[in-house]
Amino acid sequence: MDLQEKSVLNKVTVSDRDLFLMGEKNYLLVHESPPISGEMSLFGSKNASLPIMASLILTSGVSRLHNIPGSADVINMCQLLKELGAGVDYNSITNVLVVDSSSINSFLVSPEIMQKMRASVLVMGPLLARFGRAEIALPGGCAIGARPIDYHIKAFKKMGVECVIDGEILTAKASGLKAEILGQDYPSVGATENILMAAVLTQGETTLINVSLEPEVLDVISVLKKMGAKIEILAPATIRVTGVTSLNAIDHEVIPDRLEAGALLLAAAISGGEIYLPGAREEHLSLFLLKLREMGHTVVCGSEGKGIRLIATDQPQAISLITGPFPAFPTDLQSPMMAALCIAQGESVVRETVFENRLIHVPQLRKLGADITVSGDTARINGVRNLYGATVEATDIRASCSLVLAGLVAKGSTCVMGAYHWKRGYQLLDKKLAALGAIIKLEAR
Ligand code: EPZ
Repeated sequence: MDLQEKSVLNKVTVSDRDLFLMGEKNYLLVHESPPISGEMSLFGSKNASLPIMASLILTSGVSRLHNIPGSADVINMCQLLKELGAGVDYNSITNVLVVDSSSINSFLVSPEIMQKMRASVLVMGPLLARFGRAEIALPGGCAIGARPIDYHIKAFKKMGVECVIDGEILTAKASGLKAEILGQDYPSVGATENILMAAVLTQGETTLINVSLEPEVLDVISVLKKMGAKIEILAPATIRVTGVTSLNAIDHEVIPDRLEAGALLLAAAISGGEIYLPGAREEHLSLFLLKLREMGHTVVCGSEGKGIRLIATDQPQAISLITGPFPAFPTDLQSPMMAALCIAQGESVVRETVFENRLIHVPQLRKLGADITVSGDTARINGVRNLYGATVEATDIRASCSLVLAGLVAKGSTCVMGAYHWKRGYQLLDKKLAALGAIIKLEAR
């Protein structure tokens, strides 16, 4: 790489349209809208992009990632990689990220970055593999749960890592990682990704039992294999890694964001519209699509599972669902789906089993006139004829989506406060919805 190119690799170009309103004092103003209809493309998956960006720490060269969404979390991960010494060039209009990881020279993650983005914990595994050290601030919990990282720490300790927690700072160091047989009580997405990224450069054979095999995790595995890692996925939910001595820079297109796809499909479903998503993949949303059909919506998938069309019914029926690890119903689509159930005919039952506090959007939906009762991890939703606009507060990324969807059909206008959650998880989804007929605007106070 010549000097000129190196100097270029330190530019995170976030277009005004994306940077606009990244702040915290923002809200989404949503009015009762006509049916949401049309065709829309998808950005890349945020939850695949973040671990894949962290995996570049394992390499030493210039990698190029395509379809990287310009959401706030991704921009924070760009900042984190720059803090570690990488050359970073990201353009949120082309969605192309170029990273030169050869200049990474630090294993310290600043508390400021950790506080902005819990997913920063995903650099622990790669830093331990590269430097034998990592220093991070413990990721706090968030509205949906305590979200501890005990599975990550337990596995790293068994691999020979000494983890010392002093206040909020976690210092991890190892004089060489050990290949072990590791198991986790729950198929944690982040722990699976973090441990995998440590194991790929650990000499010997590491086995991880009870792993997450969400589509995003499989995309991380495909990137690690492209880098030269030796990974086998064994049934049931077991991964075997044979360590190698180095990994190469790669070129990769991140999978489409199934959670953005789910939000757009639900926008058409709740408003009685018709939508076509040519980039959506059936196998990423299989059970979710079945539930939409159970409600009475027509869902048609393209040949080889590429492309999803939804034609909404005008008599949506109540359903029941339980969230769980893939391929169960995705917890990240639970609150958006609940918005649609608020005006379905009959009583729906939603049970949230992944996060202990992920029904916190219910009081906000009630402010819009929804008839929902919660008992423990289960919500019962009695469909009502109408919702009514009000001012509500988003508590996490997916709750912000739920409230926007409800606002599309609520009489009058709905003000969704805490729009920075929306910007953390979606790039320009408000503009996409507006292009499909929604009356919605991101505003600054
Ligand atoms: C990932 O979070 C996603 N985030 C989440 O999306 C998603 O909801 C979640 O997986 C489940 O699918 C990213 O990929 C960046 P987990 P993660 O570890 O990895 C418990 C969004 O809106 N647990 O699978 O943090 C944990 O408390 C976000 O995009 C432990 O107890 O999820 C939770 O109850 C929200 N100890 C359950 O496991 C641990 O060490 C699932 O968590 C780790 C997890």
